Amino acid sequence: MKTAIYPGSFDPVTLGHLNIIKRAAACFDRLIVCVMINSKKQGMFTPEERVELLKKATARFPNVEVDYSEGLLAAYAKRRRAHVVVKGLRAVSDFEQEVQMAVINRKLNPGLETMFLASSEKYTYLSSTIVKEMARYGADLGEFLPREIVDDVNRRMQELQERKD
Ligand code: PNS
Repeated sequence: MKTAIYPGSFDPVTLGHLNIIKRAAACFDRLIVCVMINSKKQGMFTPEERVELLKKATARFPNVEVDYSEGLLAAYAKRRRAHVVVKGLRAVSDFEQEVQMAVINRKLNPGLETMFLASSEKYTYLSSTIVKEMARYGADLGEFLPREIVDDVNRRMQELQERKD
């Protein structure tokens, strides 16, 4: 059974992520979407909440599993017996950091290959950060997020703004 891992912060999962999930799930027997910690980013949702949002958004894909890990991706892949990491590339600006991570991950776990999927042109501009910015100004999030999670994101943004006032 060929298992791949799609790691990310997913804070929250966007339609761009979902497009990669759908295409990667068609290439492997099993795809594990794993919420991981990016030490450079501050979270809007807790990792447990991100897992729940991902589960809602991916419920229709039978070979997709959602998980969370606090550790290194290379160690997680070994534990899950996965030999492939899938990443989406939106633009050249993603390239340098992604290749650096791929090389480090292969150094830590020599059996681990990283495969890049080119983002759909529809979503090259999209990121969780942009979505949070849109949410802050009350924009319609239906174009950017899986419809199952739009209300959750709007609700959380409202809570965060009320807490500030
Ligand atoms: O969605 P992101 O923020 O671009 O995802 C980055 C993520 C979470 C996949 C990356 O930071 C990661 O792999 N974190 C786990 C720790 C790790 O293994 N880091 C890579 C070696 S520096």
